[in-house]
Amino acid sequence: MSKKILITGGAGFIGSNFVHYIVNKYPDYTVYVVDSLTYAGNLDNIPREFFDLPNFHFVEGTITDELLMKKLTAKADVVVHFAAESHVSYSIQNVSVFVETNVKGTQVICEAVKENVVERFINISSSEVYGSALTVPMDENHPLLPYSPYAASKIGAERMVYAYYKTFNIPAVIIRPFNNYGSYQHIEKVIPRFITQALSGERLTVHDDGLQSRDWLYVEDSCAAIDKAVHGNIDNLKGESINIGTGKDTSILKIAEMILEYTGKPRDFISIGDTRPGQVDQHLSSTEKARDLLEWKASTEFSQGLARTIDWYQKNPLWWQKLRKIELSHTL
Ligand SMILES: NC(=O)c1ccc[n+]([C@@H]2O[C@H](COP(=O)([O-])OP(=O)(O)OC[C@H]3O[C@@H](n4cnc5c(N)ncnc54)[C@H](O)[C@@H]3O)[C@@H](O)[C@H]2O)c1
Repeated sequence: MSKKILITGGAGFIGSNFVHYIVNKYPDYTVYVVDSLTYAGNLDNIPREFFDLPNFHFVEGTITDELLMKKLTAKADVVVHFAAESHVSYSIQNVSVFVETNVKGTQVICEAVKENVVERFINISSSEVYGSALTVPMDENHPLLPYSPYAASKIGAERMVYAYYKTFNIPAVIIRPFNNYGSYQHIEKVIPRFITQALSGERLTVHDDGLQSRDWLYVEDSCAAIDKAVHGNIDNLKGESINIGTGKDTSILKIAEMILEYTGKPRDFISIGDTRPGQVDQHLSSTEKARDLLEWKASTEFSQGLARTIDWYQKNPLWWQKLRKIELSHTL
């Protein structure tokens, strides 16, 4: 049956990949995208032709706007909420904007969902809520020990969603993606930063010893998992928090080496930088709950996903060179 989906943050990295995924896979669905187009939101992430479709609607606005969110939620069967401030380092400089967007914005959506009964509300949280792994693999019962204001704001957001589920019985599902990578990711994040530096013939800076590892999830695998959350049996899913990850981890240093090798640059292009606060040492996801509840597992090997991602950046220099120019103008 055709659905009406409201996607928040659909001009960002994962959100825009999800917009592509839904519009291409379900051409009869009506899609509403709301995005305030912060520095991380980019209309170039959404194909021009989508804007001409009668069942695609883009609204520039903020999720903290109560009236707007009530109006948009009233049109939707399903809300998938990606919009957030998402950069760990930026959260250390600007804590309050993370509280405002991530915690307050999510509460505004909860309120809108409570008022306009929807079929389901998928809240995109983050593996960052766990902090660094105390035990591996990290399952959904791992303690929530945030390392950064970003992580704390994501806990505030998802626990607010859980409280609305418990108190008001909203049909909410919490998804905790591990580190995503793929096309359209802002160059502030480590994999696109390394790729665009290598393609520009610059050195890659690895912080500390580079041995911090993450569970890297190809963004199209994330979209497939979220699709399962949109279409699975809501009675089994509501109130649940579900990790989406691969169950394998790779260090930052190893990724720098893989990117240099793939782009034909020498190994000594790596330099070691200082320590960065707020970074976790290890993240490795348990995959059982996603397999049982979403009937999903990641299907892209890291080397394969990384090669596809490098190819995408190689083919789309205008997309990332524009962002580099903006970054450069801020450092001058
Ligand atoms: N990228 C990852 O590896 C990763 C991993 C786990 C979880 N997540 C979560 O997934 C979601 C998407 O992450 P991403 O990497 O695509 O982020 P992103 O920074 O690329 O995109 C965020 C989008 O939200 C929009 N936005 C910000 N504030 C807004 C507001 N007040 N109102 C409306 N729109 C607003 C931005 O303009 C941007 O388009 C976030 O909730 C993030 O916490 C990301």
